[in-house]
Amino acid sequence: MEVAEGEEAIRRVQSLTQSGLSQVPPQYIQPPQTRPILPSHPPQTQHIPIIDLFGFDPTHIQSTRDSIARACRDWGAFHVINHGVPTSLLHHIRHAGLSFFNDLSMPDKLRYSCSPGAAASEGYGSRMLVNHDDADQVLDWRDYFDHHTFPLSRRNPNKWPEFPSGYRETVAKYGNEMKNLAQKLMALISESLGLRPSCIEDAAGELYQNITISYYPPCPQPELTLGLQSHSDMGFITLLIQDQVSGLQALKNCGGDSESWVTVEPLEDAILVILGDQTEIITNGKYKSCVHRAITNPDRARLSVAAFHDPAKTVRISPASELIDESSPAKYRGVVYGDYVKSWYTKGPEGKRNIDALLLES
Ligand code: OGA
Ligand code: NI
Repeated sequence: MEVAEGEEAIRRVQSLTQSGLSQVPPQYIQPPQTRPILPSHPPQTQHIPIIDLFGFDPTHIQSTRDSIARACRDWGAFHVINHGVPTSLLHHIRHAGLSFFNDLSMPDKLRYSCSPGAAASEGYGSRMLVNHDDADQVLDWRDYFDHHTFPLSRRNPNKWPEFPSGYRETVAKYGNEMKNLAQKLMALISESLGLRPSCIEDAAGELYQNITISYYPPCPQPELTLGLQSHSDMGFITLLIQDQVSGLQALKNCGGDSESWVTVEPLEDAILVILGDQTEIITNGKYKSCVHRAITNPDRARLSVAAFHDPAKTVRISPASELIDESSPAKYRGVVYGDYVKSWYTKGPEGKRNIDALLLES
């Protein structure tokens, strides 16, 4: 619809910044309690763990599993290296994404607009939540392109950019490689708790994958804004790569006395694994989903590519029975994944409040 498109055009963050803004519009200003304290350089004493997968070489698998168990307990996020995904593919997808955002005109990009008002609709957009009318909603300083890549029945590359050349092939290939890696990691995560390797994947019903390329334009007032508000991802695991511009932060010791934001420094050719809420539910809270956010900066645009791996909307996710007994009762109520998603997109993520709603009295 002509009119809706016009309204949407105004909302793309990149079009705001191209008009040479010196102050961010009021809808993008975070309330004082969620404004970032920008990292002062250099002191960061904590770092996201880096786990060498040794190309899944069987002789290393036990120690890898142990490292994964530790990282999942302490952080809910970790980098993996020697993951087996060709590094050229990581470069190609970053290049394709950057070229879409930087080299296409705004009207050309808007031809791929996602449908406003529909949750997680495929295409080019800015807003994460569906309640567009909520005047109090603070907006993220981010534009994105979301692709539906698995199951194959919902993969339709005709909805993806045709430019730069090879874009569609790169996204398809990237989706396949990430699914493969996600399956291997979900097996290791399951085994690290003594569960059968297919435990998490079986719970998915059919594994769904979305690939979101996020573009964070430079922001004139980074101290007032967030590129992406604090949240945990909804599904099982997210595999994320970023460019050389940092901005992603993970919340260490969420809810504890020593809670603090730790910048996830870009690590060339590594892939960041982020545990989502459904992994926390299945593991009965033994592993926690990682709360994270993106901050902005005044100088350089930032790009990330996230591959989300989620259950089918129709399946019910609940703590694995093997992890529950009298001394360790179920901590979470089971939830139909589609209901969880709906609640997330209407209430908003705001830290962990969606998963907290499933907590059982202990
Ligand atoms: C996300 C996300 C972080 C980033 O898309 O869920 O957390 O660095 N992205 O873009
Ligand atoms: Ni996220």
